[in-house]
Amino acid sequence: MVVGSVLVTGGTGYIGSFTALALLEADYKVVIVDNLYNSSEECVNRIELISGKRPVYYRCDITDEPALDKVFDEHQDIDSVIHFAALKAVGESGEIPVEYYRVNVYGTICLLRSMSRHNVTNIVFSSSATVYGDATRFPDMIPIPEHCPLGPTNPYGNTKMTVELLITDHVAAQRNNAKKTGKSGEEWNGALLRYFNPAGSHPSGVMGEDPQGVPYNLLPLLAQVAVGKREKLLVFGDDYNSKDGTAIRDYIHILDLAQGHLLALNYLREHHPGVRAWNLGTGKGSTVFEMIKAFSHAVGRDLPYEIAPRRAGDVLNLTANPARANEELGWKAKHTLEEACEDLWRWTKNNPQGYRQQPPQEFVEKLKVGKK
Ligand SMILES: NC(=O)c1ccc[n+]([C@@H]2O[C@H](COP(=O)([O-])OP(=O)(O)OC[C@H]3O[C@@H](n4cnc5c(N)ncnc54)[C@H](O)[C@@H]3O)[C@@H](O)[C@H]2O)c1
Repeated sequence: MVVGSVLVTGGTGYIGSFTALALLEADYKVVIVDNLYNSSEECVNRIELISGKRPVYYRCDITDEPALDKVFDEHQDIDSVIHFAALKAVGESGEIPVEYYRVNVYGTICLLRSMSRHNVTNIVFSSSATVYGDATRFPDMIPIPEHCPLGPTNPYGNTKMTVELLITDHVAAQRNNAKKTGKSGEEWNGALLRYFNPAGSHPSGVMGEDPQGVPYNLLPLLAQVAVGKREKLLVFGDDYNSKDGTAIRDYIHILDLAQGHLLALNYLREHHPGVRAWNLGTGKGSTVFEMIKAFSHAVGRDLPYEIAPRRAGDVLNLTANPARANEELGWKAKHTLEEACEDLWRWTKNNPQGYRQQPPQEFVEKLKVGKK
């Protein structure tokens, strides 16, 4: 039985693919659009390998409105979108901001226009803890609650905040317009999911993060050091006001993050809240040095690193207060940081070419046995 149909933009990317998997496992029909800018179509096969169900996939750019229209025309049962497609490298966003606004903001405008034409009324948006900027500029805002004033410190964060405003204004307008015609308009809803630091891979070892270029996040970089693709990790700043001088982040297992999307989507479809923001994080902060230690433990040896100057736009502490998602969505991070490190290491060690190689046969066999 299918419980609903969802379009997932950026669904072959890291978080999108895990969310597509969670949706299929919860009996949603999933249609993915992605232009493969930072991902591989092979992950559609991996999703099928794990879940036994295959998402529909279109190679499609979200700035191509007619192409989006065609997808909605072909799948008129879609009533919701989970929107991941974006450029996401903070440093690069400072070099080519116009491109970031084109893909992230204009791409979302194209998506919302096409959704409206096809009466697709729920959107779950991939926002980021980056929208808060430096929350330590206010007293008592660590761990960060959703009411913390926004203040991104880089162009990437600015695009995320802009899209949050765009969705908020769009949903409010659609509701108002509906009211003018005597309808409730309550079918128009948006979830702004502010992720903290996604980490880890699928425990089966056949699905994980496989970025096309240089990874930006700490754990994939450490994983590259561990397999010898990179000589050492650069630690950007050891003069922060933390217990060991390195920056603090809240690392959340990718399986928990994917589950958060499923629960937020269900919440929109059942409770019609309008637009609502939820933090998806664990509530526990870890420093860069603590992460190096945790991942080195999973690998079984110390990994080399070097201290480098702070990176522009980085902040001291991004740790979530996840109470709102815990209470309203019934969502809680279940997997530990140690599991994230072990799962990431299993994926990296056994799939050094990511999706450009076949997964180890023993892992595939294990999945088959598990399904019997
Ligand atoms: N990974 C993180 O640390 C993190 C943290 C907070 C928020 N986010 C947000 O979550 C979302 C997903 O991030 P991710 O880590 O999975 O990144 P990702 O790069 O793996 O996924 C993004 C996907 O979007 C696709 N894409 C890019 N431009 C496109 C376009 N014009 N048309 C169609 N598809 C396009 C890429 O090919 C990729 O598959 C992004 O919006 C990102 O900003 C990520």
